[in-house]
Amino acid sequence: MKEEIKNQAIGIFDSGIGGLTVSKEIMNLLCEENIVYLGDTARVPYGTKSRRTVKKYVESTTNFLLSKNIKLLVVACNTASAYAIEMLKENLEIPVVGVVEPGAKRASELTANGKIGVIGTQATIKSGSYEKKLREICSSPIEIYSKPCPLFVPLAEEGWENDETTALVAEKYLGDLRKSEIDVLILGCTHYPILKNTIAGVMGEKIRLVDSAEETAKQTENILRTQGLLREDGKAREMSFYLTDDSETFTSIASRFLGRPMEKAEVVDIV
Ligand code: DGL
Repeated sequence: MKEEIKNQAIGIFDSGIGGLTVSKEIMNLLCEENIVYLGDTARVPYGTKSRRTVKKYVESTTNFLLSKNIKLLVVACNTASAYAIEMLKENLEIPVVGVVEPGAKRASELTANGKIGVIGTQATIKSGSYEKKLREICSSPIEIYSKPCPLFVPLAEEGWENDETTALVAEKYLGDLRKSEIDVLILGCTHYPILKNTIAGVMGEKIRLVDSAEETAKQTENILRTQGLLREDGKAREMSFYLTDDSETFTSIASRFLGRPMEKAEVVDIV
């Protein structure tokens, strides 16, 4: 039975294509694993929506991935993790990995002065989920400075990672955070790793950036390893990409986020 489960795919979902930054890290670290990715492109963005709506969306994305017989679920979307991870962990029988906990854990390890910054969508910041997780994890007193940076999402999708407009927007969003003397900044949104260089340039070299995508991949690997669920059938891996809506620009943006040419994506209806 366990042998069969081992060879099932890892399911990953996001509100859209941003979660491909998380998929990229998982694919790089776990090169043998089959991947099923679902991007809810018909209902993106989640980052401006209420908890109730995001939880409803998460139920349907999860049900779709469960119908694909996955062995582990990765909630690549920070907003979905912020609002729905507890619900999923309570209700699913398979392991569930969100992006908030791995990012918070890494930040707690890296900070020397206990001052941690968090940036994300309006919903992620409003949820206070990074703050809650950081306070749970850190044993010594910490100060948390949070800031929503909604314009980073369209800038990353537009491919403006090295554009001066992005640097100006980053300065406007992050100037105050820099002054607050944080020594670690959590990139709490799927799109922000694309803008890492610009964000690093604005924050300066003393501030360490935590890439939630990288940390999530490490936690996924760790769970599969400790639960004896790493794939071992030795066959070539399979990757399937599903979207709930198609768009003309999708393929080029997706390939950039994924760091390799995007394979064919199938459009599906989910309820
Ligand atoms: N994937 C979302 C997140 O990480 C960003 C895009 C959206 O707002 O849906 O929060």
